[in-house]
Amino acid sequence: MKALVYHGPGQKALETRPKPQIEAPGDAIVKLVKTTICGTDLHILKGDVATCAPGRILGHEGVGIIDSVGAGVTAFRPGDRVLISCISSCGKCDYCRRGLYSHCTTGGWILGNEIDGTQAEYVRTPHADTSLYRVPAGADEEALVMLSDILPTGFECGVLNGKVEPGSTVAIVGAGPIGLAALLTAQFYAPAEIIMVDLDDNRLDVARRFGATHTINSADGKAAEAVKALTGGIGVDTAIEAVGIPATFLLCEDIVAPGGVIANVGVHGVKVDLHLERLWAHNITITTRLVDTVTTPMLLKTVQSKKLDPLQLITHRFTLDQIIDAYDTFSRAADTKALKVIISA
Ligand SMILES: NC(=O)c1ccc[n+]([C@@H]2O[C@H](COP(=O)([O-])OP(=O)(O)OC[C@H]3O[C@@H](n4cnc5c(N)ncnc54)[C@H](O)[C@@H]3O)[C@@H](O)[C@H]2O)c1
Ligand SMILES: [Zn+2]
Ligand SMILES: [Zn+2]
Repeated sequence: MKALVYHGPGQKALETRPKPQIEAPGDAIVKLVKTTICGTDLHILKGDVATCAPGRILGHEGVGIIDSVGAGVTAFRPGDRVLISCISSCGKCDYCRRGLYSHCTTGGWILGNEIDGTQAEYVRTPHADTSLYRVPAGADEEALVMLSDILPTGFECGVLNGKVEPGSTVAIVGAGPIGLAALLTAQFYAPAEIIMVDLDDNRLDVARRFGATHTINSADGKAAEAVKALTGGIGVDTAIEAVGIPATFLLCEDIVAPGGVIANVGVHGVKVDLHLERLWAHNITITTRLVDTVTTPMLLKTVQSKKLDPLQLITHRFTLDQIIDAYDTFSRAADTKALKVIISA
């Protein structure tokens, strides 16, 4: 089968690899229909993710058709159409029983990281019963690919952890697919203001179309003042960090109002200063989270009922044969205006 293989920092290739086989009773082999590329795949290619070894097939998102199942799989049969979660969960360990699927002792974020992933014709999915979701009849499968990772990530790590409430003020720093997913799902709770901050005017225009009440280009280094000016000088109730660099977390520290929450979503590769000399008296909360995908069934319902339209996030389409071009387009988003790219297997 064809597969996109990571060969160490800066190196990847589309190759022919053996079709995966069932290895454990809970496994399923899924034939991919649609997959995509995540910002985290670009982090891997930069060498930021030590757990991902050279030789790994990348990808942790997708929709497909069950090809075969292990003896222990009871929820799915060959031919079933399924959404693949970026997080594999056994459903039984202490973490899974508490809804912390991301910390499953035999799962978590392993696909396209510690085991081969979804940017291929077939993928082996462990714990299939509790890590796959049935595609509802008539669902748009490209829209569902946005449910593998980015929508639950923006919602769980940003909106839920950030305690977005009716009438509250929210700033989202970073208008990439994850920040935009937080913007879309924050609107479930009708906050009064949602301020988007980014360096890319195209992404800020997209954010306006997606419901941001204000946008700020932070290139001039004055984003904190701009947020304060929009919030009567006090800052925001929820500051969502969706970039993953020190500058944007520091901005969140500057703009969170007393009593507010900083909800970190970004993957950080270097240390960040925490200004407790200022913040100790501000009654703030700081949260971190690796997405659990525990809200996927709920989000699936909102997509089916059209409360949420993830198709808005898709800007480009490719075939698996063109996946190197897809990576090029996705990695040059400022030039290509790419958000999410769909790859048809
Ligand atoms: N916590 C989790 O479980 C989880 C899951 C998936 C992704 N992530 C992480 O979330 C982050 C966002 O993901 P994405 O796919 O949207 O990434 P992305 O790279 O597409 O988007 C980041 C955005 O930040 C903007 N940006 C960069 N520097 C900035 C600055 N100084 N000020 C303001 N904006 C700036 C960029 O223009 C871009 O629009 C990444 O770090 C990713 O690895 C976390
Ligand atoms: Zn991802
Ligand atoms: Zn588990």
